[in-house]
Amino acid sequence: MLIERSYKHYSIKPGTIYLRGGDPNFATPAHIRDAAIKAIIEGYTHYAPSEGIPELRDAIANYYSKYGVKYDPDQIMVTAGGSPALHMINVSMLEPGDEVLVFDPSFSRYFSEPPTLGAVVKPVPLLKPGFHLDPEDLKANISEKSKMIVLCNPNNPTGTVYSKSELKAIADIAIDNDLIVVSDEFYSEFTYDDIKHVAISSLDGMSERTFVLVGGTKMFNFTGWRLASLILPKEYYKIVEKKTRFIGVRPATFVQRAGAEAFNAMSTKYGKEVMKEHREEYDRRRSFFCKRIDEIDGINCHTFEGAFYAYPDVSSFGLPVSSFIDELEREEGVLVGNGEGHGGVSVIGEKSPAYGHIRPALVQDVDVLEEAATRIERFTRNIPK
Ligand SMILES: Cc1ncc(COP(=O)(O)O)c(C=O)c1O
Repeated sequence: MLIERSYKHYSIKPGTIYLRGGDPNFATPAHIRDAAIKAIIEGYTHYAPSEGIPELRDAIANYYSKYGVKYDPDQIMVTAGGSPALHMINVSMLEPGDEVLVFDPSFSRYFSEPPTLGAVVKPVPLLKPGFHLDPEDLKANISEKSKMIVLCNPNNPTGTVYSKSELKAIADIAIDNDLIVVSDEFYSEFTYDDIKHVAISSLDGMSERTFVLVGGTKMFNFTGWRLASLILPKEYYKIVEKKTRFIGVRPATFVQRAGAEAFNAMSTKYGKEVMKEHREEYDRRRSFFCKRIDEIDGINCHTFEGAFYAYPDVSSFGLPVSSFIDELEREEGVLVGNGEGHGGVSVIGEKSPAYGHIRPALVQDVDVLEEAATRIERFTRNIPK
């Protein structure tokens, strides 16, 4: 989105650099917009089947096969973005008292939604500085009430891309304890330094217990179009269908047509090229921003491996994170996300590895990020010791 337009859109003061939400500043690629317009002109403006249009389900199944696991299109449910997909899993699978193992830090909704259904979140710490996993920490949190492990790979907000051996360790624990795994792979296209995304569902015994969230909104820069999908094990498809039949949140039919174009294009030279350009641009942003922010006295910021969020630790300044963020916006006009919300701080307080973190989303160009870093540095210098 154009930076000038974003002030009005997000109701923020002109001049503020907006790095709070994960809404990429790239336009939706032209071939996808054209497909939506064409679909409207051709009359794809009526109800779609509740599970999604066949062209899109086929396109997603084909796309996902590149991760080495073959799904039937009828295991796919089209959703109006990632949030409804997570909601559909939670309301279908969780009972009061169930325990949900969530890596800490990871995406905020994994922590906030299960308690609304009477389930209990058990944060499993990721280890600084790179926020990878010690499987013993996962084992230590398993109990008879454990139901589900939630994995974000690549991880929002830490950018961790889990290695095959980490995923194998998670898979072994899930199988040994008969747990289901939610694998949120919204950022699977955005990994750097030749690190490859591995799908946990491709490991032995996992496709039948893994619920996969496949990107859409972030992957193709159409966050406002509301389109993503859920791949379900055959055994659970009917349960989710039954429990969510009346929710009725599905993307518009012409948006689904455009979604089919987006996923199908991923097997063409053109579609791959567009994705590569975006990936390379995120790579430039992270290489610049994480290093620049890490050089500021009092801030620690690792260079992340995937997704597009920086995750600096600002605890040394002694301000509550919410005050740090409010004052940074007021004094210097930089608006960043609260990194503690993407973690177990509300459950285990200061012991959470998310404690003291902010989350700037690298959704602006490098020159804007450079200005943001200059302002953040000036702000921290002026914090009274
Ligand atoms: C990992 C992850 N999953 C799901 C979502 C929700 O996505 P949506 O905006 O499509 O509802 C987000 C959004 O930031 C996310 O980062």
